[in-house]
Amino acid sequence: MTSVTFVILGATGDLAKRKIYPAIARLVENKKITNFAMIAVARRDKKISSILSESKKLSGSKISWKNIEKNSYYQQLDFTNEEDYRIMNDAITAIEKKHGLSGNRLFYLATLPDFFDTITNNLAKSNLTKTNGWSRVVYEKPFGHDLQSARRINKCINRVFNEKQVYRIDHYLGKDLVANIAFVRFTNRVLEPLWNRNHVASVQIIMNENIDVGTRGNYYDKTGALKDVVQNHALQLLALTAMEPPKSLSGEYVRNKKANVLKKTRVKNVLLGQYDSYRKTEGVKQNSTTETFAALELSINNRRWKGVPFFIRAGKGLHKKDVSIHINFKRVECLLDACPEDTNHFTIKVQPNAGFHLKLNSKPPGTKTEVTPVKMDFNQSAMFGGDTVKAYGILLNDVIKGDRSVFVRNDEIEYAWKIIDKIKRGRLYHYKKGSKGPQELEKWSQLHKMPWRD
Ligand code: BG6
Repeated sequence: MTSVTFVILGATGDLAKRKIYPAIARLVENKKITNFAMIAVARRDKKISSILSESKKLSGSKISWKNIEKNSYYQQLDFTNEEDYRIMNDAITAIEKKHGLSGNRLFYLATLPDFFDTITNNLAKSNLTKTNGWSRVVYEKPFGHDLQSARRINKCINRVFNEKQVYRIDHYLGKDLVANIAFVRFTNRVLEPLWNRNHVASVQIIMNENIDVGTRGNYYDKTGALKDVVQNHALQLLALTAMEPPKSLSGEYVRNKKANVLKKTRVKNVLLGQYDSYRKTEGVKQNSTTETFAALELSINNRRWKGVPFFIRAGKGLHKKDVSIHINFKRVECLLDACPEDTNHFTIKVQPNAGFHLKLNSKPPGTKTEVTPVKMDFNQSAMFGGDTVKAYGILLNDVIKGDRSVFVRNDEIEYAWKIIDKIKRGRLYHYKKGSKGPQELEKWSQLHKMPWRD
């Protein structure tokens, strides 16, 4: 019997509606939880029925919402008012009694990070986290807005909770192909021995989004691409790609190795951009200098990667959605008159069309001196069926099971902020929505001898 009380703070936000409620509904539908209640908590006066119907519309999910609706409640709460938390504790206790729940409470802070320490303190003070079952607290990203604020939040959390209760979420770590990076690398002899500076020329991490900022102008304008997706998702992809082999692919081992990579990573060059109509978005300042695009060259100062450039490119309003990692191998000595134009590369495609492929060179049939690239391709949905399990559902299920291995540890977060905080922001280049980014990217890439693979 898995019984859980979900308490979602920041319940009227985009994230809760698009991702969290559908994930809970899916867990219920797939019988991962047998008994539950969901309490949606936010500052405004709202009705649970309208929140869930918006969520249904936004997520476009085909799951059944019937079960979730009858076990869901709304609680209005001012995050800064201690008394409100006591009232909420009484309300939750009554709901748990009504549904025969055992008191396992999962608190999800889907709010702006500015509220993290206030909410953390108030959850503890009001005894909401003292129950007969377990209580676990999930912190959504961004975790702070710089190193200083992240440290302050971590200190506050560690004062009132045991680290074992704490889950700092990065939903990219719940994606199938991200979880697969370590498996592919460490279970294939044809890859791991080549995964180092002797054979790899460069690594590219691409996080292109074709959607724009949409209705999130207010949040995004204070955040920008570097803090919204690079500090967390992109640097986690980099850490997983570059880490040393862990003793095992579980528990603290992977987190230790990822932290070691981030500790040694520095940004060498950066190019920032903003799409043309961004300043007309609701919630965005008319003279905003927030970047919606970032290209970075990074170095990892350790024996495995010294001298190998890592590139990250992330942006909104671009020509297509594409999240991929490309491992570009060095050239081989060429024995032909017509040498291959391209080098071998191994590409991990996170989304869309999750899978991976290896580009090799081959002779076209009937020729004697020509060589052409050929692709060995694994397409996950073609092989295992189309329905990839959604990241938030996987991660919520891990919280329920008490498995913290794919959640981000406090030191990883702080190292990642150190990397971002040190960036010197130069000029902001504008680009057309639907393009590949600022035109200057081409010059920048030539300067860094880096043709992008997209
Ligand atoms: C979120 C960012 O963390 O990740 C969004 O706040 C971004 O701005 C999103 O769009 C991308 O996630 P996914 O799963 O759609 O690639």
